[in-house]
Amino acid sequence: MAVAVNARKFSTHFNFSNTPSFFIMSEALGIKDKYTQIHGQRVAFYAKRLAKHLSLKGDHIRQITMGGMFHDIGKIAVSDQTLHNQSKVLSEEMLWEVRHHPSIGAFWLRRMNCVDDICNAVLYHHERLDGSGYPFGLKGSAIPLSAQIVSVADCFDAITTDRPYRPRKSQKRAFEALEEMADKTLAADLVTAFIREIEKNGMAHFAEQP
Ligand SMILES: [Fe+2]
Repeated sequence: MAVAVNARKFSTHFNFSNTPSFFIMSEALGIKDKYTQIHGQRVAFYAKRLAKHLSLKGDHIRQITMGGMFHDIGKIAVSDQTLHNQSKVLSEEMLWEVRHHPSIGAFWLRRMNCVDDICNAVLYHHERLDGSGYPFGLKGSAIPLSAQIVSVADCFDAITTDRPYRPRKSQKRAFEALEEMADKTLAADLVTAFIREIEKNGMAHFAEQP
Protein backbone atom coordinates (compact mmCIF):
# COMPACT_ATOMS: atom_id res chain seq x y z
CA MET A 1 0.00 0.00 0.00
CA ALA A 2 1.45 3.36 -0.98
CA VAL A 3 1.23 6.13 1.60
CA ALA A 4 0.58 9.55 0.08
CA VAL A 5 0.82 12.80 2.03
CA ASN A 6 0.40 16.22 0.46
CA ALA A 7 3.54 18.17 1.34
CA ARG A 8 1.50 21.39 1.64
CA LYS A 9 -0.48 19.83 4.47
CA PHE A 10 2.58 18.41 6.17
CA SER A 11 2.62 20.83 9.09
CA THR A 12 -0.99 19.94 9.87
CA HIS A 13 -0.22 16.24 9.48
CA PHE A 14 2.48 16.52 12.17
CA ASN A 15 0.46 18.96 14.29
CA PHE A 16 2.84 21.92 13.95
CA SER A 17 -0.02 24.41 14.19
CA ASN A 18 1.04 25.54 17.68
CA THR A 19 4.78 25.58 16.95
CA PRO A 20 5.25 28.29 14.29
CA SER A 21 9.02 28.48 14.87
CA PHE A 22 9.38 24.89 13.65
CA PHE A 23 7.19 25.59 10.65
CA ILE A 24 9.33 28.62 9.78
CA MET A 25 12.53 26.57 10.13
CA SER A 26 11.14 23.98 7.74
CA GLU A 27 10.15 26.68 5.26
CA ALA A 28 13.61 28.30 5.54
CA LEU A 29 15.22 24.96 4.75
CA GLY A 30 12.91 24.62 1.74
CA ILE A 31 14.03 28.00 0.41
CA LYS A 32 17.65 26.89 0.81
CA ASP A 33 17.07 23.47 -0.77
CA LYS A 34 13.67 21.99 -1.62
CA TYR A 35 14.95 18.41 -1.77
CA THR A 36 16.36 18.61 1.78
CA GLN A 37 13.09 20.00 3.16
CA ILE A 38 10.95 17.26 1.63
CA HIS A 39 13.58 14.63 2.49
CA GLY A 40 13.23 15.73 6.13
CA GLN A 41 9.47 15.31 5.93
CA ARG A 42 9.78 11.80 4.52
CA VAL A 43 12.45 10.86 7.10
CA ALA A 44 10.14 12.15 9.85
CA PHE A 45 7.33 10.04 8.45
CA TYR A 46 9.50 6.90 8.27
CA ALA A 47 11.10 7.49 11.68
CA LYS A 48 7.67 7.96 13.27
CA ARG A 49 6.46 4.70 11.75
CA LEU A 50 9.56 2.82 12.91
CA ALA A 51 9.20 4.27 16.43
CA LYS A 52 5.54 3.19 16.50
CA HIS A 53 6.46 -0.25 15.14
CA LEU A 54 8.90 -0.56 18.08
CA SER A 55 6.03 0.31 20.49
CA LEU A 56 7.82 3.37 21.88
CA LYS A 57 5.79 5.80 24.01
CA GLY A 58 3.91 8.82 22.62
CA ASP A 59 6.34 11.58 23.69
CA HIS A 60 9.31 9.59 22.50
CA ILE A 61 7.63 9.01 19.12
CA ARG A 62 6.91 12.74 18.77
CA GLN A 63 10.51 13.66 19.61
CA ILE A 64 11.92 11.14 17.13
CA THR A 65 9.52 12.48 14.48
CA MET A 66 10.76 16.03 15.10
CA GLY A 67 14.35 14.78 15.02
CA GLY A 68 13.68 13.22 11.62
CA MET A 69 12.02 16.37 10.37
CA PHE A 70 14.97 18.58 11.34
CA HIS A 71 17.88 16.15 11.09
CA ASP A 72 19.41 18.16 8.23
CA ILE A 73 18.38 21.66 9.36
CA GLY A 74 22.09 22.51 9.78
CA LYS A 75 22.41 22.31 5.98
CA ILE A 76 21.06 25.85 5.91
CA ALA A 77 24.61 26.78 6.94
CA VAL A 78 26.21 24.69 4.16
CA SER A 79 27.21 26.65 1.04
CA ASP A 80 25.14 26.20 -2.14
CA GLN A 81 28.29 25.05 -3.92
CA THR A 82 28.70 22.16 -1.48
CA LEU A 83 24.99 21.36 -1.15
CA HIS A 84 24.48 21.10 -4.90
CA ASN A 85 27.79 19.44 -5.65
CA GLN A 86 27.21 16.81 -8.37
CA SER A 87 30.32 14.77 -7.69
CA LYS A 88 30.73 12.10 -5.01
CA VAL A 89 34.22 13.46 -4.31
CA LEU A 90 34.25 16.54 -2.07
CA SER A 91 37.12 18.94 -1.39
CA GLU A 92 38.50 19.23 2.17
CA GLU A 93 36.57 22.45 2.67
CA MET A 94 33.31 20.92 1.40
CA LEU A 95 33.83 17.87 3.59
CA TRP A 96 34.32 20.11 6.62
CA GLU A 97 31.02 21.86 5.89
CA VAL A 98 29.13 18.59 5.42
CA ARG A 99 30.56 17.07 8.60
CA HIS A 100 29.48 20.04 10.67
CA HIS A 101 25.80 20.17 9.66
CA PRO A 102 24.65 17.87 12.53
CA SER A 103 26.41 20.01 15.17
CA ILE A 104 25.06 23.27 13.73
CA GLY A 105 21.51 21.91 13.55
CA ALA A 106 21.64 20.55 17.12
CA PHE A 107 23.06 23.86 18.35
CA TRP A 108 20.14 25.79 16.85
CA LEU A 109 17.57 23.37 18.29
CA ARG A 110 19.16 23.61 21.75
CA ARG A 111 18.84 27.39 21.54
CA MET A 112 15.11 26.79 20.89
CA ASN A 113 14.98 24.73 24.10
CA CYS A 114 14.27 21.46 22.30
CA VAL A 115 14.42 18.36 24.50
CA ASP A 116 17.44 16.04 24.42
CA ASP A 117 15.89 13.38 22.20
CA ILE A 118 15.23 15.85 19.38
CA CYS A 119 18.71 17.40 19.66
CA ASN A 120 20.36 13.97 19.92
CA ALA A 121 18.59 12.69 16.81
CA VAL A 122 19.96 15.68 14.89
CA LEU A 123 23.46 15.69 16.41
CA TYR A 124 24.11 11.96 16.03
CA HIS A 125 22.20 10.99 12.86
CA HIS A 126 25.44 10.43 10.92
CA GLU A 127 27.09 8.37 13.66
CA ARG A 128 27.50 4.72 12.68
CA LEU A 129 27.44 1.53 14.78
CA ASP A 130 31.05 0.62 13.87
CA GLY A 131 32.40 4.09 14.73
CA SER A 132 32.84 5.14 11.09
CA GLY A 133 30.36 8.03 11.31
CA TYR A 134 30.64 11.68 12.27
CA PRO A 135 30.93 14.15 13.99
CA PHE A 136 32.26 12.11 16.96
CA GLY A 137 32.78 8.55 15.71
CA LEU A 138 30.55 7.11 18.45
CA LYS A 139 30.08 3.32 18.50
CA GLY A 140 27.19 0.94 19.24
CA SER A 141 24.93 1.79 22.16
CA ALA A 142 26.74 5.11 22.72
CA ILE A 143 24.58 6.36 19.84
CA PRO A 144 21.14 7.38 21.22
CA LEU A 145 18.19 5.31 20.00
CA SER A 146 16.47 8.39 18.55
CA ALA A 147 19.48 8.99 16.28
CA GLN A 148 19.71 5.31 15.29
CA ILE A 149 16.05 5.33 14.23
CA VAL A 150 16.48 8.53 12.21
CA SER A 151 19.63 7.04 10.60
CA VAL A 152 17.74 4.02 9.26
CA ALA A 153 14.94 6.26 7.91
CA ASP A 154 17.51 8.68 6.45
CA CYS A 155 19.47 5.93 4.66
CA PHE A 156 16.33 4.39 3.19
CA ASP A 157 15.00 7.69 1.87
CA ALA A 158 18.41 8.69 0.45
CA ILE A 159 18.61 5.36 -1.42
CA THR A 160 15.04 5.49 -2.79
CA THR A 161 15.14 9.08 -4.11
CA ASP A 162 17.06 10.62 -7.01
CA ARG A 163 20.25 12.48 -6.12
CA PRO A 164 22.35 14.64 -8.49
CA TYR A 165 25.11 11.99 -8.46
CA ARG A 166 22.94 8.84 -8.77
CA PRO A 167 19.40 7.68 -9.61
CA ARG A 168 17.00 6.24 -7.05
CA LYS A 169 16.93 2.50 -6.33
CA SER A 170 13.87 0.28 -6.04
CA GLN A 171 12.40 -0.68 -2.68
CA LYS A 172 13.84 -4.19 -3.11
CA ARG A 173 17.37 -2.88 -3.82
CA ALA A 174 17.06 -0.46 -0.91
CA PHE A 175 16.16 -3.33 1.44
CA GLU A 176 19.24 -5.20 0.19
CA ALA A 177 21.40 -2.15 0.84
CA LEU A 178 19.99 -1.74 4.37
CA GLU A 179 20.55 -5.45 5.08
CA GLU A 180 24.18 -5.05 3.99
CA MET A 181 24.55 -2.19 6.48
CA ALA A 182 22.86 -4.14 9.31
CA ASP A 183 25.20 -4.86 12.23
CA LYS A 184 27.98 -2.87 10.53
CA THR A 185 26.76 0.71 10.36
CA LEU A 186 23.07 0.37 11.32
CA ALA A 187 21.46 -1.61 14.15
CA ALA A 188 20.27 -4.96 12.76
CA ASP A 189 17.10 -5.07 14.87
CA LEU A 190 16.08 -1.60 13.65
CA VAL A 191 16.72 -2.56 10.02
CA THR A 192 14.59 -5.71 10.40
CA ALA A 193 11.76 -3.75 12.07
CA PHE A 194 11.92 -1.01 9.43
CA ILE A 195 11.76 -3.47 6.52
CA ARG A 196 8.76 -5.19 8.14
CA GLU A 197 7.01 -1.83 8.56
CA ILE A 198 7.59 -0.79 4.93
CA GLU A 199 6.56 -4.22 3.61
CA LYS A 200 3.34 -3.91 5.59
CA ASN A 201 2.44 -0.24 5.01
CA GLY A 202 4.43 0.91 1.99
CA MET A 203 6.77 3.76 1.11
CA ALA A 204 6.09 7.48 1.49
CA HIS A 205 5.38 9.46 -1.67
CA PHE A 206 5.73 13.17 -0.96
CA ALA A 207 5.85 15.58 -3.89
CA GLU A 208 9.30 17.21 -4.10
CA GLN A 209 7.88 20.36 -5.67
CA PRO A 210 4.69 21.20 -3.76
FE1 LIG B 1 22.43 14.70 7.41
